[in-house]
Parts: sequence; structure tokens; C-alpha cells
Amino acid sequence: MKKVLITGGAGFIGSNFCNINKDKYEVTALDNLFLGDEKNLDPDIKFIKGDACKMEDLDKVGPVDYVVHLAGTSSAPMFMGDGLIKGYMNSIESFITVLEWASKNGVKKVVYASTSSLYGNNPLPLVETQEVTPINHYAVTKRMYEYSSACYNKVNPDMDIIGFRFMSVYGPNEEAKGQFANLVSQFCWDMARGLAPVIYGDGSQTRDFTNVRDVVQGLTLAIETDKKLGADVFNIGTGRGTSLNEIIEALEKAFNNGIKAKYIENPVKEGYVRGQNADISKIQEVLGYEPTVKLEDGIKEQVENIRLDRIRQTSSDNLR
Ligand SMILES: NC(=O)c1ccc[n+]([C@@H]2O[C@H](COP(=O)([O-])OP(=O)(O)OC[C@H]3O[C@@H](n4cnc5c(N)ncnc54)[C@H](O)[C@@H]3O)[C@@H](O)[C@H]2O)c1
Repeated sequence: MKKVLITGGAGFIGSNFCNINKDKYEVTALDNLFLGDEKNLDPDIKFIKGDACKMEDLDKVGPVDYVVHLAGTSSAPMFMGDGLIKGYMNSIESFITVLEWASKNGVKKVVYASTSSLYGNNPLPLVETQEVTPINHYAVTKRMYEYSSACYNKVNPDMDIIGFRFMSVYGPNEEAKGQFANLVSQFCWDMARGLAPVIYGDGSQTRDFTNVRDVVQGLTLAIETDKKLGADVFNIGTGRGTSLNEIIEALEKAFNNGIKAKYIENPVKEGYVRGQNADISKIQEVLGYEPTVKLEDGIKEQVENIRLDRIRQTSSDNLR
């Protein structure tokens, strides 16, 4: 059985990867629990509380064939104020440490999270060949991942380092992210508590809401492929942009509790993303990826499985 280390394995996407793939791979989840929660992981999954910035913590994992690197400071608002230096240090240091550790330990492939935030307000659909100019510090760190991967792969061409620009990911196990969670989750939690979800502007802004199971699908295909991909980068999304108004409409129907969204002037004056939908033809052609979870099904599942007791802190009225 292939051995896979998932850094950030107790986080939102990492825990879904581990839980879905626990019978397919021998998975080890490493997480410092900065935002993750061990409860996200099925009890039989090997968990190591450790820091991806520390070689000695990575050494506790033992030999693995593949690394899925998801640890890091995982959204733009975390880089605000006091979070700026810590955010850069954590994201960059963990990535480089993991690459060093992986290349010294004969890892075959590293698969990592980049982000769609790199595209900012580029013309739609967002495609990997577009020029990108990161519009926030979070996106800068992910662009650095992509550049570092290309350098690493030149020196060590045996180890592929494949990046994924995730679109807007939603799904189970996001409670520990609290105020940094996806809008689908935040709106859901507000409505479940009888609070009005807060929409910035008129709600016509779109996001390519992608169920976490499809993100796991893309990462798994990257592990499984025999193709040499070097330091290539792929979008993962659905190829469709959905407006916040459409999400609210679906949630109002699902909850049917009379709670209506509250619309406020957008407080984010610079760099607010108006629209998002990915061109997914590259990942379809190269890896055989196809989105499988329809948004209405994903939202229904989200509403049915609300776990308010697990939320650390939240409100949909935060900068995003
Ligand atoms: N969720 C999205 O919509 C989305 C979109 C694009 C990219 N991403 C990227 O995907 C990755 C996973 O995101 P997520 O949504 O699951 O976020 P998350 O915050 O739930 O997961 C990240 C996990 O990494 C852990 N962590 C942070 N620093 C660490 C360190 N130094 N050592 C060990 N563990 C550490 C955190 O405790 C957390 O559990 C992140 O790199 C994020 O930037 C997420």
C-alpha cells in the first residue's frame, strides 16, 4: 500500500483527504492544530501532532512515498495585522522544509495547495496560462510555492512537485476554520443559529464553489498518475461560477425558517474578487478529473450535517 503523508491533515481539506483515502493508502496526518481539529479525523487514522516547519517533527513520520502538503496559513484575512509576519513565516518555512525533507527522504511526488486567489480579477474563465499578479499576501505565498517548486524540480527532476489552484472549496469538517471558513459554511451556520447571513454588495459576485470531495479527487489523481508532471500547476474547480444570491436562495429554501440575508456596502475596497470560475480543461485532459458533486447536493448535505458545537468562532460578517 502506498504511504502518504498529509501535512495540515487535521484541517478542512486534509482531513477529508485522509478520511476518504484511509483504505486506499496508509495515510499519516501531521498537524500542529493551529486551526485543525483532531476530531475531524476518523479514529483509526494515524495522527502526529507536529509542525511542518520542523524537520524533527517530519522525521517522526517515517518513510513515505508521497506527500500532500496542505499545512500553512490558509486564507488572506489571516495575514492581516499581527498575522502578517507569522503568516509568511509559517507558509514559506513549512513549504521549503517539507520539500527539503521530501527530497532527502526519497519521496516520489509532492502534491500541494496553491490557490485561485492568484488570479485576482483576471478575465473569466480563469486559466493556468494567464499571467497572475497576486493581490494579497496570501496569494503571494502561494505564487512563491509555485516558483520554488519549479526551482526544486530542476535540481531534483525525479521528484514531481505538483500544485493545485483550488477554487472556493466547501464541505464537511470546516468548523475549526471558524471565521475563515468558506461562505457556504458561514451562511449555513448563521442561518442555523437564526442569524441573517451578511452579503457584501448586491450578491451578484460569483465563486466557483467546489465540493471538497472533488478537490480530494484531483489530489488523488495526481498521486496515481504515471505521467511525469515536473512542477506543473492545475486548476481544480467545477467550471461554473455561482452568485452569492443563488447560494442564499438555496439555503433559504433548505432552512425555510424565514431568515433573510442582510446586504451591506462592501467594506473591502481593494482587491475584492467580483467573479470566479475556472477553466478546468487542463486537469480534465491530463489527469482525467471530472467534478462529481452538484452544488445543490453539496449544500443539502451541508445543511443536514450542521455541527454548531464544533465551531471555534464565526460570523459571515468578516473581510473576505
Ligand atoms: N479552503 C479553500 O477554499 C482553499 C482554497 C485554495 C487553497 N487552499 C489551501 O489549501 C490548504 C488547506 O486549506 P484548508 O481550507 O484545509 O485550511 P485549514 O486551515 O483547515 O488547513 C490547514 C491545516 O494546516 C495546519 N497547519 C498550519 N500550519 C501548520 C504547520 N506549520 N505545521 C503543521 N500544520 C499546520 C492547520 O492547523 C490546519 O489544520 C491551505 O494551504 C490553503 O491555503 C484552500
